[in-house]
Amino acid sequence: MERGPLKCLFVSSEVAPFAKTGGLADVIGALPKKLREQGIDARVVMPYYSKMQNQFFDHDSHFLTSYDVYLGWRVQGVGIYYDDTIMPTYFLKSDTYFSRPELYGYQDDYERFAFFCKGVLEMLRHIDFIPDIIHCNDWQTGPLCLLLKEMYSKDTFFSKIKTVYTIHNMKYQGLFGKEALNVLDLGNDYMTPEKIEYHGAVSYMKAGLLYSDKITTVSPTYAEEIKTCEYGCGLDRLLGDKLYYKIQGILNGIDYEVYNPQNDPYIYKNYTWRSIKRKQENKSKFQEEYGLEQKDSMLIGIVSRITDQKGFDLMKDTIEDMWVMDEIMQMDVQFVILGTGEKEYEDMFKHFAYKYPKRSNIFLTFNEPLAQKIYAASDVFLMPSLFEPCGLGQLIAMRYGTVPIVRKTGGLKDTVIHYNMQTKEGTGFEFEECSGYWMYKKIEEAYTYYKEYPDHFKQIQLNGMKKGFAWDDAAKKYYEMYSTMI
Ligand code: GLC
Repeated sequence: MERGPLKCLFVSSEVAPFAKTGGLADVIGALPKKLREQGIDARVVMPYYSKMQNQFFDHDSHFLTSYDVYLGWRVQGVGIYYDDTIMPTYFLKSDTYFSRPELYGYQDDYERFAFFCKGVLEMLRHIDFIPDIIHCNDWQTGPLCLLLKEMYSKDTFFSKIKTVYTIHNMKYQGLFGKEALNVLDLGNDYMTPEKIEYHGAVSYMKAGLLYSDKITTVSPTYAEEIKTCEYGCGLDRLLGDKLYYKIQGILNGIDYEVYNPQNDPYIYKNYTWRSIKRKQENKSKFQEEYGLEQKDSMLIGIVSRITDQKGFDLMKDTIEDMWVMDEIMQMDVQFVILGTGEKEYEDMFKHFAYKYPKRSNIFLTFNEPLAQKIYAASDVFLMPSLFEPCGLGQLIAMRYGTVPIVRKTGGLKDTVIHYNMQTKEGTGFEFEECSGYWMYKKIEEAYTYYKEYPDHFKQIQLNGMKKGFAWDDAAKKYYEMYSTMI
C-alpha cells in the first residue's frame, strides 16, 4: 500500500511568533516549516496562552473541538483551536491553566504540563491527523513520551506512533513533588532511580529521556558534553551509560528569510556581503538614535537571555584588581545589550550603563526589531556562555557580518571557527577556559584586528556571512532520522 507523506506532530510549550521566552520558540517556529517544504506533513501543537487572545487570529472562528482530560481525580475541559496561516498549528485552550501572565514559573506547573501532555494525546482521537512521529521538546513535554509508551500505546490507535525527545537545555529539568505522579495517574513504582525519580523529585525530563524512541539535542558537541559530569546536570551517567545508543546531535539553523540583512525591514540600511560597507551606516544611525558617541569605536553587541548560563559572571572577574568589564572599556569600544533575565545581572549591566554613559546602552526588554538593529549595527557579538546547547545569536550575528566572540562550548564550538591570519579562514574568536581574563584577551584580539588590520576584520565578516546556517541541512537530518523510525 502506498503510504502518504510522513506525518510529524511537534509538541512545544512555546512557538514563535505566538509565544516565546527563548530559542526553543524560534526552533519550533522554523523547523516544521522547513520539513513541510521537504514533503513531511509537519504540524505543531502548543498551549493557548491568554496573552495570545485574538492577537494572531480571531480565535472564535478557529474553534475545532472540545473534550475532557482526566488528571487523577480531576476532570478539565479543553478547547482545540486550529490555524494554518503561518503553519498548521493546534492550540490547547484551558483558562484554568493557561490564562496567566507568564508562560512558566507557577507552583502548579507540573499539573499544567501534565494536562498539556495528556491533552495532546487525547486530541488525536478528535482530529483528523494521526502522526507517525510525535516530536517532543524539553521538560514540559517529557511526560507525553511516558504516557504514550506505558499507557496509550496499548490501544492500537496509538501503538504505531513513535516519539522523539529533543533537549534544548539540560539545566531545566522540570522537577516536582510526588503530586506530579498523581496527575499523571502513575503509581509509586515510578518513583525509582530507574524510572522518573531524581533525588527525591519527579523528573519530567527523565520521563522524556527514558520513554522516547530517540533523543536529540541541538548540536553534536552538546550531545557529547551532556554525557560528562560538567554538563550533564546530574543525568550524565544515565545518558552516557544507558541511553547513548539513541542520542543524536543535530545542529539548529536560523530562518534565513527572517534574518536577512538584504531585506530586513527593521534595520537602517540593507546590505549583503558584496555591499558590506553599508553596514557601517547601521552603526552610525544606531549611535545617533540611542545616544552613543558618533565615532568609530568597536561596537560590542549582546542579545541574550540574561541568565548565568550566558557567562555574564566573567564580566566581574578581575584582572589586576580591575573588573574585566572596566578593563574592556579601557579600549575604544562601545557596548550594547538587549535582553531580560535575572536581576543580579540586570543590575550589573545597569551599573555599567551608568558608569559609561554615551558608550553603553542597555535595553532590559525583548524586542525583535531592536534586536535586529543591534545585530546589524554591532561590529562584534559577545557570547561567553558557560554552556550552550546550540545558540542562535552567534548564527544571526554571522549572517549580519557581525563577528562573534564566543566560549568554545556546545553549539558555539560547532559553528564558530577561530580566525587564522595566515590562511584567512575562520569566522570569529573563541576562548576555551571559563575565565574573564581569556574573554578579555579575545576581545582585545578582535579589537586589534578591528583597529589595525581592517582587511582581515572584513575577511572574518565575509567568511561568516558566506557560511550557511539555514534550516535546510538540519531538516534533512531530521527527515532521515524519522524515516529510520517508522
Ligand atoms: C535553548 C538553548 C540554546 C538553543 C535553544 C534552541 O534556549 O539554551 O542554546 O539554541 O534552546 O534549541
